[in-house]
Amino acid sequence: MQKILIMKLISYQFFFLVTFQYLELIMKEDNSSLPFRNSSLRLEERVEDLLNRLTLEEKFKISSGRLMWFTKKIKRLGIDSFAMFDGPHGVRPDYKGERPCTYFPSAICRAATWNPQLSEEFGIAIAEEVRELGAHMILAPGINIQRTPMCGRTFEYQTEDPYLNKILAVSVVKGVQSQRIAACVKHFVCNNQETNRFTYSAEVGERALQEIYLPAFKATVKEAEAWSFMSCYNKVNGVYGSEHINLIRQTLMSKWGFRGFVVSDWNATVYASTEGCVNAGLSLEMPIANVYKVKKMLKAFEEGKFNIDDLNDNVRRLLRVMFLVGCFDSQDSLPKGSRNTPKHQALARKIAQEGIVLLKNENELLPLNITRIKKIAILGPNAKLKTSVGGGSSTNFPPYEITALQGIKERCKDKIEIIDSSIDPDISILFVGLNHEENMDAEDTDKTSFKLPSDQIQLIKDTVKQNTNTIVVLISGSPISMEGWIDEIPVLIEAWYAGMEGGRAIADVLFGDVNPSGKLPITFPKKLSDSPAHKSDKTYPGDENVLYNEGIFVGYRHFEYNNIKPLFPFGYGLSYTTFTYDKLQMNNTRVSDDEIIRVSFELENTGNREGAEVVQLYIHDVESSLPRPPKELKGFKKIFLKPKQKETIIFELNSEDLAFFNEELNDWVVENGTFKILIGSSSEDIRLEIEFKYIN
Ligand code: GLC
Repeated sequence: MQKILIMKLISYQFFFLVTFQYLELIMKEDNSSLPFRNSSLRLEERVEDLLNRLTLEEKFKISSGRLMWFTKKIKRLGIDSFAMFDGPHGVRPDYKGERPCTYFPSAICRAATWNPQLSEEFGIAIAEEVRELGAHMILAPGINIQRTPMCGRTFEYQTEDPYLNKILAVSVVKGVQSQRIAACVKHFVCNNQETNRFTYSAEVGERALQEIYLPAFKATVKEAEAWSFMSCYNKVNGVYGSEHINLIRQTLMSKWGFRGFVVSDWNATVYASTEGCVNAGLSLEMPIANVYKVKKMLKAFEEGKFNIDDLNDNVRRLLRVMFLVGCFDSQDSLPKGSRNTPKHQALARKIAQEGIVLLKNENELLPLNITRIKKIAILGPNAKLKTSVGGGSSTNFPPYEITALQGIKERCKDKIEIIDSSIDPDISILFVGLNHEENMDAEDTDKTSFKLPSDQIQLIKDTVKQNTNTIVVLISGSPISMEGWIDEIPVLIEAWYAGMEGGRAIADVLFGDVNPSGKLPITFPKKLSDSPAHKSDKTYPGDENVLYNEGIFVGYRHFEYNNIKPLFPFGYGLSYTTFTYDKLQMNNTRVSDDEIIRVSFELENTGNREGAEVVQLYIHDVESSLPRPPKELKGFKKIFLKPKQKETIIFELNSEDLAFFNEELNDWVVENGTFKILIGSSSEDIRLEIEFKYIN
């Protein structure tokens, strides 16, 4: 009897399924001839045609997601899901690793290359992998300013400096969107810590917003036409990012001319309101409808809490990007995708090679001469550390990951004996640092200690006592204190989380196959209390409010203004060769508003190895009416030179580069008076400088 009942149920289920699908098929309009399907029409014509065909309920429906990474389908019109995946250093289509993707170096490592070309190539490569997976957007780059070295997501972000941040962010976005894949610039804005990330309010002044926190976001719109932004979890001056009408509708859209769409961070809307988000300009609530449930939207609409024009603008923006990425075009008209290719893996290695920073190299112990070494000890907890998995939403599942130990073993082959004890090796290489565990370099928690774990500090001391030829390699994603051991070690490298090819890149640098050229994109303080955010509990971690009392004095701006010597300064990194800076010239030492300021100088590789130098240009406003930092980065170039090769380097500035934001005038101003241009190898190592008068 029971069997018959079950058989009947199955047959009824099958019948309904077939019927439903048949009905769906006949209900689905044949829209192949409709204007929005016609790729010869202008973009806006297609967008408007499709928008006008959507019913009110369908507009509500398309405004929230399903199954974590997709928008809902509108089958009646043949609108398929718009698909998006994390993350900032590799695509993660699922949490099972069934579709492995290239694991590129973390954003802070990519930033340490100071190489915009590599960032653009990274953008292209990650977009190719998104395309190959049949998706349309990458939830990257993450470009929040590194306000505190304790932020758990420091490794996911680029730098403490707004100029370096914007140059690299623009490069990534251009690369991604060159493949007709949307970049999603995140997290808009002031998501600078993980402590209380869902609720804290960044209490930040307008000048700091304009000079520090907004510039990179603005540049991705003005210079790269970013197609998507992700709103932040936190509040900014008391208003949640997803319903921040001033930041989104007024600044991002009206002032900056943003034509893409804003997507919420995942469940970032849970404390917001339906009308707040619609009116602010939030087009898409992810991963599922909270405030954008159809019935909630209908109720708010019927109560007049938002109007059809704002709703249409939000939906129009999403549709516009769906057209831009080719959702309604034939697949063969789109750039081809590719995933896990040797080309992408080689790029991961190159970014790692150029992102590794040589911090100490006493007695030129490096590079290692493979012909003169018999035995190397590879020690420390991070020698075998894999960093692809973990750390939160930026986790990756690559087809392989080369650890430091694997990279060195592969490089040494049978030429050098590799041991794991520090008894009488020629060289000891000690791999220490952090990892993606909670309260280290990981999303959703900040670091709880600024020091290395005590057992690692002891291991460093013990190792260097047994062998003065000890090289310490940090595998980490954020600054740490080195108090108590830094002076005892002759060689120190910051290798960051260097991606799936990181182990090979580390070996490339250690054995001199690559001359290190990385420069710190973030200041390494001697102690945490030196850091500008750490002046009181109110400034970090704060409670419901985090007081950005340091204003514009973030990172090296703060250290220099207050004459605090850092452990390692912003822009610092050594090389296996040396460079000289000479013959600084300037086109005009009296400059007015519409004039281009041109400086040139000669850079020479005075060593016997080819190498790359990141020349940095800072400005200083000598006579400003408001406090200004002693240095502000306004230019940099990465110059590759062979031994004894010289190159004339030219920088051009304009008056905008001299400006600061005046809150009273609510505008940027350049004041008459004396300015300095300082050119150097780091923010502290200034090699040339010149003064000029600005007269308007
Ligand atoms: C996370 C992150 C965001 C990520 C998103 C989807 O919470 O804040 O960066 O893209 O949710 O995983």
